[in-house]
Amino acid sequence: MCGIVGYIGEKKAKPILINGLLRLEYRGYDSAGISTIEKSGIKTIKNKGRVAELENSDEINKLNGTIGIGHTRWATHGKPSTTNSHPHMDNSNTFSVVHNGIIENYAGLKEFLKSRKYTFLSDTDTEVIPNLIHFNYQNSEEKGKKRLLEAVTNTSKMLKGSFAIEILCSDFPDNMVVVRKDSPLVIGKGVNENYISSDIPAILSFTKDFYLLNDNEFAFISRDQIEFYDEDMNIIKKEARNITWDAGAAEKGGYPDFMFKEINEQPKSVRETIGARITQNSKSSIPDLKLDKEYLKTINKIFIVACGTAMYAGMAGKTILESLCEIPVEVEAASEFRYRNPIVNEKTLCIFITQSGETADTIAALKLAKSKNAKTLAISNVIGASISREADYTIYTHAGPEIAVASTKAYTSQIVLLAIIAINFAEKLEINQEKVNELKSDILLLPSQLEEVLKNTERIKSFAQRIYKEKDVFFIGRGIDYTVALEGSLKLKEISYIHSEAYPSGELKHGPIALIENDVTIISILTNRLLVEKSISNIQEVVTRGAKTFIITNQELNHNFDEVITIPKTNPLISPILSVVPLQILAYYISKEKGLDVDKPRNLAKSVTVE
Ligand code: M6R
Repeated sequence: MCGIVGYIGEKKAKPILINGLLRLEYRGYDSAGISTIEKSGIKTIKNKGRVAELENSDEINKLNGTIGIGHTRWATHGKPSTTNSHPHMDNSNTFSVVHNGIIENYAGLKEFLKSRKYTFLSDTDTEVIPNLIHFNYQNSEEKGKKRLLEAVTNTSKMLKGSFAIEILCSDFPDNMVVVRKDSPLVIGKGVNENYISSDIPAILSFTKDFYLLNDNEFAFISRDQIEFYDEDMNIIKKEARNITWDAGAAEKGGYPDFMFKEINEQPKSVRETIGARITQNSKSSIPDLKLDKEYLKTINKIFIVACGTAMYAGMAGKTILESLCEIPVEVEAASEFRYRNPIVNEKTLCIFITQSGETADTIAALKLAKSKNAKTLAISNVIGASISREADYTIYTHAGPEIAVASTKAYTSQIVLLAIIAINFAEKLEINQEKVNELKSDILLLPSQLEEVLKNTERIKSFAQRIYKEKDVFFIGRGIDYTVALEGSLKLKEISYIHSEAYPSGELKHGPIALIENDVTIISILTNRLLVEKSISNIQEVVTRGAKTFIITNQELNHNFDEVITIPKTNPLISPILSVVPLQILAYYISKEKGLDVDKPRNLAKSVTVE
């Protein structure tokens, strides 16, 4: 959580930092601040609230420095306040630090520093960092650059937890030092200037050439040079990677919000995910997935591990993999998997799904699976993300940057990719070829079918206007439709703050039906021809108790419901890719009707890099 940005070059740093922070706000938006190196030393301006408030503060226009660091915060230690916001300075005002992540042993370090007469202003874990750097700097016998580097490397060795840190030092007015461990940090290379950020999209409009730091690697950055070091201060060589994302992909591009843009991008993002991986008349191709028939024949279980929306994509993936590959699949929340003793061994393939590739629980779960000798496959949307450095194999969804906190296009791309993986495995195992061929043609139709689904936007908006004042909403479905119900319910909760629950349709009568009373809204997904009659009976049970009904279906229904959104027919295995879209649109318009910030819902942040 939290976003960090940095600039070192010949231009004024302030506008570049503010621009970066505005793009990073989806990572946290409790407070924001920047430090620049001025002629008089390091100057810091920060405040509680959004980046826009920082940008409009009178003080900020006095910053003229060409080197600076910035931070937008999602509070973990210490409530949102100006004092708790970053950057934090040491007692002597020599070091300014912004930090992403959590310092788990900060309390002990604080006591240690207090015993050496350091004082603290904030309740944060971060404030120990500039003071520890100062302590190590004072105690270093090195001179010049080595003294600073030694102070930073010794400090990072004392920190437990996760961190991406940018450091300014008033003794080095032409440099910046950065370090990371278990928290993302990239350096964008320009001409006589360099950019630093926790996320590539924040600085994509300035450069497309990026260095990715690995854990416990440092960079000593000047305007025209970047030196990389390992934790023992040995120089290491790194190649910049060219990122092909279009800079416009990280802009709203005329849409009112990122979420609405990302919902509407799904025909394109799904097309990109399919890419050249499947075509009708040849075998599927996933070049980065080197799992052969011999290996696939040895596995007796697939685990899919993820969080939130990515986990719900995994639940849909379970149905597809089991149907095509005939291997049992278990799906589990990464935060549960990592703290128990799952039955995983060399015969288990573990798939980790994460849009950001930075989710702390998912990465920890992957490390656990590896320690139990399982092969690990990561599915991520962000090239070079932390998870790709841990997994045996990583394949990318190529959905383009997803900025809105509520995940939409990543979910549909994740399911498409899981379906392609299932096809690939079944082809290698030489089973279910007829099903495989049918599924391939159906996948290739998805982009145009998504365009059809999006044509329902105005009707869904009208329904949203009818129900936006509801207090409770229920989502129901059977089989794969139930996994969509879970995702629809999560979307509604997170951006509209309406309480909602998702149930398998057949479960209502085992308890939850007691909650149904006059005018309650029930949203039902009905895409499986074989289960439709059963599900309609369940809906009738709630209609007779006065519920309002919103149905998403690809079947012909001869019943009167309050609203029926008809979507194109597709293979039941991939129906979530179409049926989720009306639920995304519904949640979006309910949030808009309530006047909420759709892209940045309260208490949330885009990537959850803390436990
Ligand atoms: O980046 P990840 O896919 O690992 O993120 C997982 C969840 O935090 C994420 O899907 C979250 O549930 C979204 N806010 C849902 O819209």
